[in-house]
Amino acid sequence: MSDNDMLERRNVLRSIAAIGLFSAGTSGVEGNIAGNQSSDALASDEIQGVVPAPVTSTSTGSEYAITSDTAIHVESKAAAGVANYLAGILRPSTGNELPVVDAHGSGAEDSISLLLTGAPTTVGEEGYRLNVNAHGVTIRANEPPGLFAGVQTLRQLLPPTVESDTEQPGPWTVPGGHILDYPRFSYRGAHLDVARHFFSVDSVKQYIEYLAQYKMNHLHLHLTDDQGWRIEIESWPKLTEIGGSTEVGGGPGGYYTQSEYRELVEYAQDRFITVIPEIDMPGHTNAALASYAELNCDGEREDLYTGTSVGFSSLCVDKEITYEFIDDVIREVSEITPGPYIHIGGDEAHETSDEEYDEFMDRAVSIIEKHDKRPVGWHQILNADPPESTVAQYWYPGQEAPDVAEAARDGTELIASPASHAYIDMKYTENTELGLDWAGLTTVKDAYSWDPGRFLEDVDESAVKGPETALWSETLETLADIEFMLFPRMPAVAELGWSPESRTAWEEFRQRLATQGSRWDVQDVNYYESPLVAWP
Ligand code: ACM
Repeated sequence: MSDNDMLERRNVLRSIAAIGLFSAGTSGVEGNIAGNQSSDALASDEIQGVVPAPVTSTSTGSEYAITSDTAIHVESKAAAGVANYLAGILRPSTGNELPVVDAHGSGAEDSISLLLTGAPTTVGEEGYRLNVNAHGVTIRANEPPGLFAGVQTLRQLLPPTVESDTEQPGPWTVPGGHILDYPRFSYRGAHLDVARHFFSVDSVKQYIEYLAQYKMNHLHLHLTDDQGWRIEIESWPKLTEIGGSTEVGGGPGGYYTQSEYRELVEYAQDRFITVIPEIDMPGHTNAALASYAELNCDGEREDLYTGTSVGFSSLCVDKEITYEFIDDVIREVSEITPGPYIHIGGDEAHETSDEEYDEFMDRAVSIIEKHDKRPVGWHQILNADPPESTVAQYWYPGQEAPDVAEAARDGTELIASPASHAYIDMKYTENTELGLDWAGLTTVKDAYSWDPGRFLEDVDESAVKGPETALWSETLETLADIEFMLFPRMPAVAELGWSPESRTAWEEFRQRLATQGSRWDVQDVNYYESPLVAWP
Protein backbone atom coordinates (compact mmCIF):
# COMPACT_ATOMS: atom_id res chain seq x y z
CA MET A 1 0.00 0.00 0.00
CA SER A 2 1.24 3.51 -0.71
CA ASP A 3 1.96 6.07 1.99
CA ASN A 4 -1.16 8.12 1.53
CA ASP A 5 -3.35 5.08 1.66
CA MET A 6 -6.25 5.50 4.02
CA LEU A 7 -5.06 8.92 5.07
CA GLU A 8 -8.46 10.34 4.35
CA ARG A 9 -10.25 7.63 6.31
CA ARG A 10 -7.84 7.99 9.16
CA ASN A 11 -8.47 11.73 9.22
CA VAL A 12 -12.19 11.20 9.28
CA LEU A 13 -11.85 8.62 12.02
CA ARG A 14 -9.53 10.86 14.00
CA SER A 15 -12.18 13.54 14.03
CA ILE A 16 -14.74 10.98 15.17
CA ALA A 17 -12.34 9.97 17.94
CA ALA A 18 -12.04 13.59 18.97
CA ILE A 19 -15.76 13.80 19.59
CA GLY A 20 -15.77 10.61 21.61
CA LEU A 21 -17.22 8.02 19.25
CA PHE A 22 -14.33 5.57 19.44
CA SER A 23 -14.78 2.54 21.61
CA ALA A 24 -11.75 1.44 23.55
CA GLY A 25 -12.62 -2.10 22.57
CA THR A 26 -10.12 -3.35 20.04
CA SER A 27 -6.97 -4.65 21.52
CA GLY A 28 -5.24 -6.59 18.78
CA VAL A 29 -3.52 -8.49 21.58
CA GLU A 30 -3.17 -12.17 20.76
CA GLY A 31 -1.38 -13.69 23.73
CA ASN A 32 -1.00 -17.44 23.39
CA ILE A 33 -3.57 -18.70 25.81
CA ALA A 34 -4.55 -21.67 23.70
CA GLY A 35 -3.06 -24.11 26.19
CA ASN A 36 -5.24 -22.69 28.92
CA GLN A 37 -8.52 -24.39 28.01
CA SER A 38 -10.94 -25.10 30.78
CA SER A 39 -12.30 -28.55 30.05
CA ASP A 40 -15.47 -28.07 32.08
CA ALA A 41 -16.58 -25.05 30.06
CA LEU A 42 -18.85 -27.23 27.94
CA ALA A 43 -21.83 -28.93 29.50
CA SER A 44 -21.42 -32.63 28.75
CA ASP A 45 -25.08 -33.34 27.93
CA GLU A 46 -25.03 -30.85 25.07
CA ILE A 47 -24.19 -31.66 21.46
CA GLN A 48 -20.68 -30.33 20.94
CA GLY A 49 -18.96 -28.20 18.38
CA VAL A 50 -21.71 -26.51 16.36
CA VAL A 51 -21.21 -22.91 15.14
CA PRO A 52 -23.41 -20.88 15.47
CA ALA A 53 -24.37 -22.41 18.83
CA PRO A 54 -27.89 -23.88 18.68
CA VAL A 55 -30.56 -22.49 20.99
CA THR A 56 -30.88 -25.82 22.83
CA SER A 57 -29.32 -29.22 22.33
CA THR A 58 -29.35 -32.46 24.26
CA SER A 59 -27.12 -35.43 23.65
CA THR A 60 -28.71 -38.89 24.13
CA GLY A 61 -25.69 -41.14 23.81
CA SER A 62 -26.93 -43.20 20.84
CA GLU A 63 -25.77 -42.57 17.29
CA TYR A 64 -26.73 -43.06 13.67
CA ALA A 65 -24.31 -43.99 10.92
CA ILE A 66 -24.87 -42.98 7.31
CA THR A 67 -24.19 -46.04 5.15
CA SER A 68 -24.83 -47.28 1.63
CA ASP A 69 -28.38 -48.11 2.83
CA THR A 70 -29.19 -44.53 3.80
CA ALA A 71 -31.72 -42.57 1.73
CA ILE A 72 -32.73 -38.93 2.00
CA HIS A 73 -36.50 -38.73 2.51
CA VAL A 74 -38.64 -35.75 1.54
CA GLU A 75 -42.38 -35.19 1.16
CA SER A 76 -42.39 -32.08 -1.01
CA LYS A 77 -40.64 -30.47 -3.95
CA ALA A 78 -39.56 -27.56 -1.76
CA ALA A 79 -37.71 -29.94 0.56
CA ALA A 80 -36.22 -31.83 -2.40
CA GLY A 81 -34.12 -28.79 -3.31
CA VAL A 82 -32.52 -28.79 0.14
CA ALA A 83 -32.16 -32.60 0.00
CA ASN A 84 -30.25 -32.37 -3.27
CA TYR A 85 -27.96 -29.74 -1.75
CA LEU A 86 -27.28 -32.08 1.20
CA ALA A 87 -26.68 -35.02 -1.12
CA GLY A 88 -24.22 -32.85 -3.06
CA ILE A 89 -22.16 -32.46 0.10
CA LEU A 90 -22.44 -36.04 1.38
CA ARG A 91 -22.02 -38.09 -1.80
CA PRO A 92 -18.42 -37.24 -2.78
CA SER A 93 -16.90 -37.86 0.66
CA THR A 94 -19.02 -40.81 1.82
CA GLY A 95 -19.14 -42.48 -1.57
CA ASN A 96 -22.75 -43.44 -0.79
CA GLU A 97 -25.52 -43.10 -3.31
CA LEU A 98 -27.91 -41.33 -0.91
CA PRO A 99 -30.94 -41.28 -3.21
CA VAL A 100 -33.44 -38.48 -2.61
CA VAL A 101 -36.81 -40.26 -2.39
CA ASP A 102 -40.42 -39.35 -1.78
CA ALA A 103 -41.07 -40.53 1.77
CA HIS A 104 -44.80 -41.08 1.39
CA GLY A 105 -45.33 -44.73 2.12
CA SER A 106 -41.71 -45.52 3.00
CA GLY A 107 -40.53 -46.21 6.51
CA ALA A 108 -38.24 -43.93 8.46
CA GLU A 109 -35.57 -46.62 8.88
CA ASP A 110 -32.10 -45.69 7.66
CA SER A 111 -32.98 -42.27 6.46
CA ILE A 112 -32.23 -38.61 6.71
CA SER A 113 -35.75 -37.11 6.60
CA LEU A 114 -36.19 -33.47 5.65
CA LEU A 115 -39.79 -32.59 6.47
CA LEU A 116 -41.80 -29.39 6.23
CA THR A 117 -44.26 -30.61 8.85
CA GLY A 118 -44.29 -30.96 12.59
CA ALA A 119 -41.87 -28.17 13.56
CA PRO A 120 -42.94 -25.89 16.40
CA THR A 121 -44.27 -22.57 15.07
CA THR A 122 -41.90 -20.82 17.50
CA VAL A 123 -38.88 -21.69 15.33
CA GLY A 124 -40.26 -19.42 12.61
CA GLU A 125 -39.18 -19.47 9.00
CA GLU A 126 -35.48 -20.11 9.53
CA GLY A 127 -35.49 -22.41 12.56
CA TYR A 128 -35.67 -26.20 12.74
CA ARG A 129 -35.81 -29.20 15.02
CA LEU A 130 -33.24 -31.94 14.50
CA ASN A 131 -33.52 -35.40 16.05
CA VAL A 132 -30.96 -38.16 15.73
CA ASN A 133 -31.57 -41.72 16.97
CA ALA A 134 -30.25 -45.14 16.00
CA HIS A 135 -32.64 -45.30 13.01
CA GLY A 136 -31.83 -42.04 11.35
CA VAL A 137 -31.89 -38.27 11.30
CA THR A 138 -35.06 -36.16 11.11
CA ILE A 139 -35.02 -32.43 10.45
CA ARG A 140 -38.36 -30.64 10.67
CA ALA A 141 -38.94 -27.01 9.72
CA ASN A 142 -41.80 -24.69 8.78
CA GLU A 143 -40.14 -23.38 5.64
CA PRO A 144 -37.25 -24.45 3.36
CA PRO A 145 -34.76 -21.95 4.91
CA GLY A 146 -35.24 -23.76 8.22
CA LEU A 147 -34.51 -27.15 6.64
CA PHE A 148 -31.43 -25.61 5.06
CA ALA A 149 -30.21 -24.31 8.44
CA GLY A 150 -30.79 -27.78 9.91
CA VAL A 151 -28.75 -29.31 7.09
CA GLN A 152 -25.86 -26.96 7.91
CA THR A 153 -26.00 -28.19 11.50
CA LEU A 154 -26.10 -31.85 10.41
CA ARG A 155 -23.01 -31.20 8.29
CA GLN A 156 -21.16 -30.09 11.42
CA LEU A 157 -22.31 -33.16 13.41
CA LEU A 158 -20.54 -35.45 10.95
CA PRO A 159 -16.76 -36.04 10.99
CA PRO A 160 -14.74 -33.19 9.36
CA THR A 161 -13.75 -35.44 6.47
CA VAL A 162 -17.34 -35.20 5.24
CA GLU A 163 -16.20 -31.88 3.74
CA SER A 164 -13.79 -33.65 1.39
CA ASP A 165 -14.51 -33.75 -2.32
CA THR A 166 -12.96 -37.21 -2.60
CA GLU A 167 -14.10 -40.48 -1.03
CA GLN A 168 -13.01 -40.93 2.60
CA PRO A 169 -13.14 -43.99 4.90
CA GLY A 170 -15.81 -42.92 7.43
CA PRO A 171 -17.56 -44.22 9.54
CA TRP A 172 -20.19 -41.48 9.06
CA THR A 173 -21.67 -41.34 12.51
CA VAL A 174 -23.96 -38.60 13.77
CA PRO A 175 -24.26 -38.29 17.56
CA GLY A 176 -27.78 -38.98 18.89
CA GLY A 177 -29.74 -36.14 20.38
CA HIS A 178 -32.20 -33.31 19.88
CA ILE A 179 -31.58 -29.76 18.72
CA LEU A 180 -34.10 -26.93 18.69
CA ASP A 181 -32.75 -23.91 16.90
CA TYR A 182 -33.74 -20.55 15.41
CA PRO A 183 -32.02 -17.20 14.83
CA ARG A 184 -31.84 -14.23 17.19
CA PHE A 185 -31.76 -11.72 14.30
CA SER A 186 -33.64 -12.00 11.02
CA TYR A 187 -30.76 -10.29 9.21
CA ARG A 188 -27.27 -11.80 9.21
CA GLY A 189 -25.15 -10.28 6.50
CA ALA A 190 -21.71 -10.20 4.95
CA HIS A 191 -20.42 -7.49 2.65
CA LEU A 192 -17.82 -8.01 -0.06
CA ASP A 193 -16.00 -5.22 -1.91
CA VAL A 194 -15.55 -6.38 -5.51
CA ALA A 195 -14.72 -2.83 -6.66
CA ARG A 196 -11.26 -2.18 -5.18
CA HIS A 197 -10.18 -5.58 -6.46
CA PHE A 198 -12.40 -7.64 -8.72
CA PHE A 199 -13.25 -11.23 -7.81
CA SER A 200 -14.45 -13.88 -10.26
CA VAL A 201 -17.93 -15.41 -10.31
CA ASP A 202 -16.42 -18.64 -8.94
CA SER A 203 -14.76 -16.80 -6.04
CA VAL A 204 -18.01 -15.07 -5.11
CA LYS A 205 -19.84 -18.41 -5.29
CA GLN A 206 -17.32 -19.86 -2.86
CA TYR A 207 -17.87 -16.82 -0.61
CA ILE A 208 -21.62 -17.46 -0.72
CA GLU A 209 -21.09 -21.11 0.19
CA TYR A 210 -19.00 -20.06 3.21
CA LEU A 211 -21.78 -17.72 4.34
CA ALA A 212 -24.34 -20.50 3.98
CA GLN A 213 -22.20 -22.81 6.09
CA TYR A 214 -22.53 -20.38 9.00
CA LYS A 215 -26.24 -19.54 8.49
CA MET A 216 -25.70 -16.03 7.12
CA ASN A 217 -28.62 -14.91 4.97
CA HIS A 218 -27.62 -11.68 3.19
CA LEU A 219 -24.75 -10.92 0.79
CA HIS A 220 -24.05 -7.20 0.31
CA LEU A 221 -22.03 -6.76 -2.88
CA HIS A 222 -20.18 -3.44 -3.09
CA LEU A 223 -20.29 -3.24 -6.90
CA THR A 224 -19.02 0.26 -7.66
CA ASP A 225 -16.37 2.59 -6.30
CA ASP A 226 -13.64 4.98 -7.41
CA GLN A 227 -11.45 2.15 -8.68
CA GLY A 228 -13.99 0.10 -10.59
CA TRP A 229 -17.54 -0.36 -11.90
CA ARG A 230 -18.33 -4.07 -11.73
CA ILE A 231 -21.88 -4.57 -13.02
CA GLU A 232 -22.93 -4.33 -16.66
CA ILE A 233 -25.45 -1.55 -17.32
CA GLU A 234 -26.76 -2.02 -20.86
CA SER A 235 -27.85 1.60 -21.32
CA TRP A 236 -24.43 2.94 -20.16
CA PRO A 237 -21.95 0.40 -21.60
CA LYS A 238 -18.80 2.45 -20.96
CA LEU A 239 -19.28 2.04 -17.20
CA THR A 240 -17.82 -1.45 -17.51
CA GLU A 241 -15.81 -0.99 -20.74
CA ILE A 242 -13.84 1.86 -19.21
CA GLY A 243 -14.82 1.95 -15.54
CA GLY A 244 -14.42 -1.81 -15.13
CA SER A 245 -11.04 -1.98 -16.82
CA THR A 246 -8.77 -1.66 -13.81
CA GLU A 247 -8.55 -1.93 -10.02
CA VAL A 248 -6.33 -0.97 -7.09
CA GLY A 249 -2.71 -1.33 -8.14
CA GLY A 250 -3.55 -1.10 -11.86
CA GLY A 251 -4.50 -4.74 -12.49
CA PRO A 252 -7.00 -5.74 -15.19
CA GLY A 253 -10.15 -5.37 -13.05
CA GLY A 254 -13.26 -6.91 -14.56
CA TYR A 255 -17.01 -6.90 -14.21
CA TYR A 256 -20.05 -9.15 -14.06
CA THR A 257 -22.30 -9.28 -17.10
CA GLN A 258 -25.96 -9.12 -16.14
CA SER A 259 -26.22 -12.82 -16.85
CA GLU A 260 -23.27 -13.58 -14.54
CA TYR A 261 -24.84 -11.42 -11.84
CA ARG A 262 -28.11 -13.36 -12.24
CA GLU A 263 -26.11 -16.56 -11.86
CA LEU A 264 -24.71 -15.28 -8.55
CA VAL A 265 -28.13 -14.21 -7.36
CA GLU A 266 -29.53 -17.66 -8.15
CA TYR A 267 -26.64 -19.44 -6.49
CA ALA A 268 -27.29 -17.34 -3.39
CA GLN A 269 -31.07 -17.90 -3.60
CA ASP A 270 -30.50 -21.66 -3.69
CA ARG A 271 -28.80 -21.16 -0.31
CA PHE A 272 -31.52 -18.82 1.00
CA ILE A 273 -29.18 -15.84 0.83
CA THR A 274 -30.52 -12.49 -0.43
CA VAL A 275 -28.14 -10.41 -2.55
CA ILE A 276 -28.06 -6.66 -1.81
CA PRO A 277 -26.31 -4.79 -4.62
CA GLU A 278 -24.60 -1.53 -3.66
CA ILE A 279 -24.22 1.29 -6.15
CA ASP A 280 -22.34 3.85 -4.05
CA MET A 281 -23.23 7.53 -4.61
CA PRO A 282 -22.76 10.51 -4.77
CA GLY A 283 -19.14 9.90 -3.66
CA HIS A 284 -17.02 6.85 -4.48
CA THR A 285 -17.93 7.39 -8.14
CA ASN A 286 -14.65 8.05 -9.94
CA ALA A 287 -15.01 4.95 -12.13
CA ALA A 288 -18.32 6.34 -13.49
CA LEU A 289 -16.86 9.83 -13.86
CA ALA A 290 -13.94 8.34 -15.83
CA SER A 291 -16.37 6.52 -18.12
CA TYR A 292 -18.70 9.39 -19.12
CA ALA A 293 -17.62 13.03 -19.54
CA GLU A 294 -21.21 14.25 -19.20
CA LEU A 295 -21.48 13.02 -15.61
CA ASN A 296 -18.81 15.53 -14.57
CA CYS A 297 -19.74 19.13 -13.66
CA ASP A 298 -17.00 20.44 -15.97
CA GLY A 299 -17.97 18.05 -18.79
CA GLU A 300 -14.55 16.39 -18.82
CA ARG A 301 -13.78 12.74 -18.10
CA GLU A 302 -11.79 11.98 -14.98
CA ASP A 303 -8.75 9.71 -15.22
CA LEU A 304 -9.14 6.14 -14.00
CA TYR A 305 -7.97 5.76 -10.42
CA THR A 306 -5.99 2.84 -8.97
CA GLY A 307 -4.99 4.20 -5.54
CA THR A 308 -6.80 3.77 -2.23
CA SER A 309 -7.75 7.27 -1.05
CA VAL A 310 -11.41 8.00 -0.37
CA GLY A 311 -13.71 11.00 -0.38
CA PHE A 312 -12.48 12.83 -3.49
CA SER A 313 -15.14 12.07 -6.13
CA SER A 314 -18.76 13.11 -6.60
CA LEU A 315 -21.51 12.82 -9.17
CA CYS A 316 -22.60 16.28 -10.37
CA VAL A 317 -25.52 17.11 -8.09
CA ASP A 318 -26.77 20.02 -10.24
CA LYS A 319 -26.98 18.23 -13.58
CA GLU A 320 -30.24 16.60 -14.70
CA ILE A 321 -28.32 13.88 -16.53
CA THR A 322 -27.05 12.66 -13.14
CA TYR A 323 -30.59 11.62 -12.21
CA GLU A 324 -31.28 10.11 -15.63
CA PHE A 325 -28.11 8.07 -15.12
CA ILE A 326 -29.16 6.94 -11.64
CA ASP A 327 -32.64 6.08 -12.91
CA ASP A 328 -31.21 3.88 -15.67
CA VAL A 329 -28.73 2.17 -13.36
CA ILE A 330 -31.26 1.51 -10.60
CA ARG A 331 -33.88 0.30 -13.10
CA GLU A 332 -31.48 -2.21 -14.64
CA VAL A 333 -30.08 -3.38 -11.32
CA SER A 334 -33.58 -3.69 -9.83
CA GLU A 335 -34.67 -5.85 -12.77
CA ILE A 336 -31.98 -8.44 -12.04
CA THR A 337 -32.26 -8.28 -8.24
CA PRO A 338 -35.19 -10.24 -6.76
CA GLY A 339 -34.39 -9.16 -3.18
CA PRO A 340 -36.13 -6.11 -1.70
CA TYR A 341 -33.07 -3.90 -1.14
CA ILE A 342 -30.78 -1.64 -3.14
CA HIS A 343 -27.86 -0.11 -1.21
CA ILE A 344 -26.89 3.39 -2.37
CA GLY A 345 -23.86 3.98 -0.19
CA GLY A 346 -23.89 7.66 0.71
CA ASP A 347 -20.69 7.41 2.76
CA GLU A 348 -17.71 9.77 2.66
CA ALA A 349 -19.33 12.27 0.29
CA HIS A 350 -16.74 14.90 1.20
CA GLU A 351 -17.05 16.75 -2.12
CA THR A 352 -20.71 17.71 -1.58
CA SER A 353 -22.03 20.36 0.81
CA ASP A 354 -24.71 19.37 3.33
CA GLU A 355 -27.29 21.13 1.21
CA GLU A 356 -26.19 19.36 -1.98
CA TYR A 357 -26.12 16.01 -0.17
CA ASP A 358 -29.72 16.47 1.04
CA GLU A 359 -30.96 17.45 -2.37
CA PHE A 360 -29.11 14.58 -4.05
CA MET A 361 -30.23 11.90 -1.59
CA ASP A 362 -33.87 13.01 -1.73
CA ARG A 363 -33.88 12.34 -5.43
CA ALA A 364 -31.76 9.18 -5.29
CA VAL A 365 -33.99 7.63 -2.61
CA SER A 366 -37.15 8.41 -4.59
CA ILE A 367 -35.63 6.74 -7.64
CA ILE A 368 -35.01 3.55 -5.60
CA GLU A 369 -38.60 3.65 -4.35
CA LYS A 370 -39.93 4.29 -7.84
CA HIS A 371 -38.34 0.99 -8.84
CA ASP A 372 -40.09 -0.75 -5.92
CA LYS A 373 -36.96 -1.34 -3.90
CA ARG A 374 -36.17 -0.45 -0.33
CA PRO A 375 -33.16 1.87 0.08
CA VAL A 376 -30.23 0.97 2.30
CA GLY A 377 -27.40 3.41 2.97
CA TRP A 378 -24.33 3.75 5.17
CA HIS A 379 -25.50 5.66 8.24
CA GLN A 380 -24.48 9.08 6.80
CA ILE A 381 -27.62 8.77 4.69
CA LEU A 382 -29.55 9.77 7.82
CA ASN A 383 -28.11 13.30 7.44
CA ALA A 384 -30.47 13.69 4.49
CA ASP A 385 -33.54 12.73 6.56
CA PRO A 386 -34.61 9.90 4.24
CA PRO A 387 -38.03 8.24 4.52
CA GLU A 388 -38.41 5.89 7.48
CA SER A 389 -38.35 2.85 5.19
CA THR A 390 -34.64 3.51 4.51
CA VAL A 391 -32.35 1.07 6.31
CA ALA A 392 -29.20 2.63 7.78
CA GLN A 393 -25.98 0.64 8.12
CA TYR A 394 -23.95 1.89 11.08
CA TRP A 395 -20.21 1.55 10.41
CA TYR A 396 -18.26 3.89 12.70
CA PRO A 397 -16.26 2.21 15.44
CA GLY A 398 -17.81 3.91 18.46
CA GLN A 399 -20.92 3.18 20.50
CA GLU A 400 -22.22 6.73 20.69
CA ALA A 401 -24.09 8.10 17.68
CA PRO A 402 -26.94 10.33 18.89
CA ASP A 403 -28.27 11.07 15.40
CA VAL A 404 -28.43 7.39 14.52
CA ALA A 405 -30.07 6.62 17.87
CA GLU A 406 -32.67 9.31 17.29
CA ALA A 407 -33.47 7.97 13.81
CA ALA A 408 -33.78 4.47 15.31
CA ARG A 409 -36.23 5.77 17.91
CA ASP A 410 -38.22 7.33 15.06
CA GLY A 411 -38.52 3.97 13.32
CA THR A 412 -35.41 3.60 11.14
CA GLU A 413 -34.09 0.05 11.05
CA LEU A 414 -30.35 -0.45 11.47
CA ILE A 415 -27.75 -2.92 10.27
CA ALA A 416 -24.87 -3.13 12.74
CA SER A 417 -21.37 -3.11 11.22
CA PRO A 418 -19.21 -1.25 13.74
CA ALA A 419 -15.73 -0.99 12.23
CA SER A 420 -14.15 -1.87 15.58
CA HIS A 421 -15.69 -5.38 15.50
CA ALA A 422 -17.34 -6.17 12.15
CA TYR A 423 -14.82 -4.68 9.68
CA ILE A 424 -12.98 -7.91 9.03
CA ASP A 425 -10.63 -6.21 6.59
CA MET A 426 -8.78 -4.91 9.65
CA LYS A 427 -5.49 -6.61 10.49
CA TYR A 428 -5.52 -9.24 13.25
CA THR A 429 -2.21 -8.01 14.69
CA GLU A 430 0.45 -5.47 13.74
CA ASN A 431 2.19 -8.22 11.81
CA THR A 432 -0.75 -9.27 9.65
CA GLU A 433 0.35 -8.64 6.07
CA LEU A 434 -3.10 -8.20 4.60
CA GLY A 435 -5.66 -5.65 5.69
CA LEU A 436 -5.86 -2.13 7.04
CA ASP A 437 -5.73 -0.80 10.59
CA TRP A 438 -7.55 2.54 10.65
CA ALA A 439 -10.24 1.14 12.97
CA GLY A 440 -7.72 -0.73 15.10
CA LEU A 441 -6.49 -4.30 15.14
CA THR A 442 -9.29 -6.86 15.31
CA THR A 443 -8.69 -10.30 16.78
CA VAL A 444 -11.28 -13.05 16.49
CA LYS A 445 -12.11 -12.29 20.13
CA ASP A 446 -12.73 -8.62 19.24
CA ALA A 447 -14.96 -9.71 16.35
CA TYR A 448 -16.92 -11.86 18.82
CA SER A 449 -17.00 -9.53 21.84
CA TRP A 450 -19.88 -7.16 21.17
CA ASP A 451 -23.64 -7.34 21.15
CA PRO A 452 -25.25 -6.33 17.83
CA GLY A 453 -28.51 -5.58 19.63
CA ARG A 454 -26.94 -3.34 22.26
CA PHE A 455 -23.88 -1.88 20.62
CA LEU A 456 -25.18 1.64 20.04
CA GLU A 457 -26.07 3.71 23.06
CA ASP A 458 -29.76 4.54 23.39
CA VAL A 459 -30.77 2.17 20.60
CA ASP A 460 -33.22 -0.59 21.43
CA GLU A 461 -32.50 -4.07 20.10
CA SER A 462 -35.86 -3.99 18.30
CA ALA A 463 -34.42 -1.35 15.90
CA VAL A 464 -31.54 -3.61 14.87
CA LYS A 465 -32.16 -5.95 11.95
CA GLY A 466 -28.87 -7.69 12.68
CA PRO A 467 -25.11 -7.65 12.21
CA GLU A 468 -23.12 -7.55 8.99
CA THR A 469 -19.40 -8.13 8.47
CA ALA A 470 -17.65 -5.82 6.01
CA LEU A 471 -14.76 -6.99 3.85
CA TRP A 472 -13.11 -4.16 1.90
CA SER A 473 -10.60 -5.29 -0.68
CA GLU A 474 -7.94 -2.58 -0.99
CA THR A 475 -5.30 -5.17 0.03
CA LEU A 476 -7.06 -8.38 -1.02
CA GLU A 477 -6.41 -9.85 -4.45
CA THR A 478 -7.27 -13.55 -4.33
CA LEU A 479 -9.82 -15.92 -2.82
CA ALA A 480 -7.07 -17.10 -0.45
CA ASP A 481 -6.69 -13.49 0.76
CA ILE A 482 -10.44 -13.28 1.31
CA GLU A 483 -10.44 -16.55 3.26
CA PHE A 484 -7.63 -15.34 5.51
CA MET A 485 -9.65 -12.31 6.62
CA LEU A 486 -12.99 -14.14 6.69
CA PHE A 487 -11.94 -17.10 8.84
CA PRO A 488 -12.30 -17.19 11.78
CA ARG A 489 -13.97 -13.77 12.13
CA MET A 490 -17.01 -14.24 9.88
CA PRO A 491 -18.19 -17.34 11.83
CA ALA A 492 -17.74 -15.26 15.02
CA VAL A 493 -20.10 -12.53 13.81
CA ALA A 494 -22.42 -15.13 12.25
CA GLU A 495 -22.83 -16.65 15.71
CA LEU A 496 -23.63 -13.23 17.24
CA GLY A 497 -26.34 -12.89 14.61
CA TRP A 498 -27.85 -16.34 15.11
CA SER A 499 -27.33 -17.58 18.66
CA PRO A 500 -29.11 -16.32 21.78
CA GLU A 501 -26.98 -13.96 23.82
CA SER A 502 -26.88 -16.53 26.63
CA ARG A 503 -24.99 -18.94 24.34
CA THR A 504 -22.29 -16.53 23.26
CA ALA A 505 -19.50 -16.83 25.83
CA TRP A 506 -16.01 -16.44 24.37
CA GLU A 507 -14.50 -19.34 26.32
CA GLU A 508 -17.01 -21.79 24.87
CA PHE A 509 -16.93 -20.23 21.45
CA ARG A 510 -13.19 -20.58 21.05
CA GLN A 511 -13.47 -24.30 21.81
CA ARG A 512 -16.23 -24.76 19.25
CA LEU A 513 -14.20 -22.72 16.78
CA ALA A 514 -11.25 -25.09 17.21
CA THR A 515 -13.41 -27.97 16.00
CA GLN A 516 -14.37 -25.89 12.94
CA GLY A 517 -10.65 -25.64 12.12
CA SER A 518 -10.55 -29.37 11.30
CA ARG A 519 -13.34 -28.77 8.78
CA TRP A 520 -11.50 -25.83 7.21
CA ASP A 521 -8.38 -28.00 6.93
CA VAL A 522 -10.37 -30.52 4.89
CA GLN A 523 -12.02 -27.73 2.88
CA ASP A 524 -8.61 -26.18 2.15
CA VAL A 525 -9.67 -22.86 3.65
CA ASN A 526 -6.75 -20.48 4.10
CA TYR A 527 -7.79 -19.46 7.63
CA TYR A 528 -5.81 -17.37 10.08
CA GLU A 529 -4.62 -19.61 12.91
CA SER A 530 -5.24 -17.16 15.71
CA PRO A 531 -3.17 -18.08 18.78
CA LEU A 532 -6.32 -17.42 20.84
CA VAL A 533 -7.74 -20.73 19.65
CA ALA A 534 -6.36 -24.26 20.23
CA TRP A 535 -6.54 -25.40 16.61
CA PRO A 536 -6.34 -29.15 15.99
C1 ACM B 1 -17.22 2.88 4.69
O1 ACM B 1 -16.40 2.15 5.27
N1 ACM B 1 -16.80 3.94 4.01
C2 ACM B 1 -18.63 2.61 4.73
